[in-house]
Amino acid sequence: MIKPHGSDELNPLFVYDSEKRHALVAEAESLPSLLLNSAAAANAVMLGGGYFNPLTGYMNKADAISVADGLHTADGLFWPVPVVNLTRESGVEPGSRIALRDPNVEGNPVLAVMDVEAVEEVSDDEIRGMAEKIFRTLDENHPGVATFTGLGNTLLSGPIQVLNFSYFQTDFPDTFRTAVEIRNEIQEHGWDKVVAFQTRNPMHRAHEELCRMAMEDLGTDGILIHMLLGKLKPGDIPADVRDASIRKMVEIYFPPNTVMVTGYGFDMLYAGPREAVLHAVFRQNCGCSHLIVGRDHAGVGDYYGGFDAQTIFDEEVPAGALELEIYRADHTAYSKKLDKVVMMKDAPDHSKEDFVLLSGTAVREMLGRGEAPPPEFSRPEVAKILSDYYQSLDS
Ligand code: ADX
Repeated sequence: MIKPHGSDELNPLFVYDSEKRHALVAEAESLPSLLLNSAAAANAVMLGGGYFNPLTGYMNKADAISVADGLHTADGLFWPVPVVNLTRESGVEPGSRIALRDPNVEGNPVLAVMDVEAVEEVSDDEIRGMAEKIFRTLDENHPGVATFTGLGNTLLSGPIQVLNFSYFQTDFPDTFRTAVEIRNEIQEHGWDKVVAFQTRNPMHRAHEELCRMAMEDLGTDGILIHMLLGKLKPGDIPADVRDASIRKMVEIYFPPNTVMVTGYGFDMLYAGPREAVLHAVFRQNCGCSHLIVGRDHAGVGDYYGGFDAQTIFDEEVPAGALELEIYRADHTAYSKKLDKVVMMKDAPDHSKEDFVLLSGTAVREMLGRGEAPPPEFSRPEVAKILSDYYQSLDS
């Protein structure tokens, strides 16, 4: 199986030894506490599950700036997005051990214990400098920019030990997986070549066929459908609804034992190209040999060119930095002429009118009215689940 990023073995920061974990939980009660923001909590969950291998905790300022500027830490480890604990709280002492509390679970239980190596001030200019590199814009209307520039100016860095997986394990027991679990499951299946499909949306026909095309073209043993379970911008579809619709589609339309339907606990960054590279890093950690990167991957609004998330792999990812390879998908849609879903590059004689193209807004409006989008766009069973959700919003 493909090796994790940056090390031979996966090194998750969750404390698997239950005695040690219980001791840390007990110790944490008497430690000074820091209430995390959701972004830092999501980083802890990803570190805990082995997704962010080989990092051992939150980055310091030199590493965070180096990663934002040049996609590598000060020591040269390839990494695409700063993994930080930026806070507005002051009063944390370097050299101290603190309990990191979970903002997303009632009662703010302890999520992790941190050995604080450094407490550094990051100026507004430095924050904005990083944001511009990560998001390619400083527009405050960009949801990722707004989040990143609002986290605070105090950067706490140092190793962490993770004690649980926040709300992800309790709210999504069938779907949430750590990278460790995914590696194990891939091994149990006896799969070697595995392509990952990143998603934060329900899957319509184009997505379904994209998965099929990638599996066929690459000759994979299976596909990992890997959905984001964390926070999204308003208007995006909640994880449980997406999960139900994706499971239904897989159950009916894919052969058994070829698909793993799973999810990971991270908030969406909307960082387009940079997030695509992060997606590649953590799918390699999951044991996947390939990642599908299609049109406007991890994008939002019109901030990124349709295929910037593919070209970054040619322009900014050094050769050999990753073992995983990307599967490049062109804009995919149903062709009325050919009566099937195709990549547009494979239908050069087509005009726009030859495809069934519906905007996200148009689909939402249809579903909200209780109308199903055409079956060329959406499977009826998927449309039903989404329509029930949209109609429940109105009642
Ligand atoms: S993402 O933010 O998680 O990337 P989404 O769930 O919409 O969003 O997309 C999942 C994957 O499918 C991404 O790789 C995206 O580029 C790709 N994709 C979505 N729709 C299309 C399409 N019509 N044509 C080609 N690729 C697509």
